[in-house]
Amino acid sequence: MDQKLMKTNKPTSVQINIQDGQMLPNTNHDRRFVSHLAEQFSDQLATKDTIKNGDPLVYELFHHAFITDKTDMALGMSVIAAGKVGNEYYMTKGHLHESDDQPEVYYCVAGQGLLLMDDLKDDFQALPFSAGTAIHIPPQYAHRVVNTGTEKLTFVSVFHVAAGHVYQSVAEAGFAYLVMDIDGKPTFIPNPKRAQFLNSTTKN
Ligand SMILES: [Fe+2]
Repeated sequence: MDQKLMKTNKPTSVQINIQDGQMLPNTNHDRRFVSHLAEQFSDQLATKDTIKNGDPLVYELFHHAFITDKTDMALGMSVIAAGKVGNEYYMTKGHLHESDDQPEVYYCVAGQGLLLMDDLKDDFQALPFSAGTAIHIPPQYAHRVVNTGTEKLTFVSVFHVAAGHVYQSVAEAGFAYLVMDIDGKPTFIPNPKRAQFLNSTTKN
């Protein structure tokens, strides 16, 4: 996490403005465009085309770390645009926590979608994630939010800085299912990347 960390043992507050999609103050603010998710979207031709035609913003994220002498809680806010690459809905990259004892809570404040959780072995869950839903993500579950709606999806997250973010192994394994728009409905399609990944790991 790239941030200007200010250690304080005093109470601090942060303002979340859902209307403007802003969290202030923040210690980290990033934007992820389709090109940042080129490895994640399944339709590679559509991905290349979309990047060539303007590389639109998929999501924006803010973090604020509350560092004291003994603790490192952090608050996050992400805003996922409504859209698709090919038939696949806009989504976050998806990550695992580096530390195996670190859970996280996601709370959806606007929009409609799904929270995908995958232990990258044999358990995959896709829970409905819309305004008012809070979900506990247990340790060692890769997590990704998919915006299946027609409006922005905004969610808030609570985690420890020490949890760490691992993207690469999740990108390689892929989530067990893709979420695609088939005839106007979010539909789960087994991810061909997962089968290839399992094949390559059993051969090694
Ligand atoms: Fe996380």
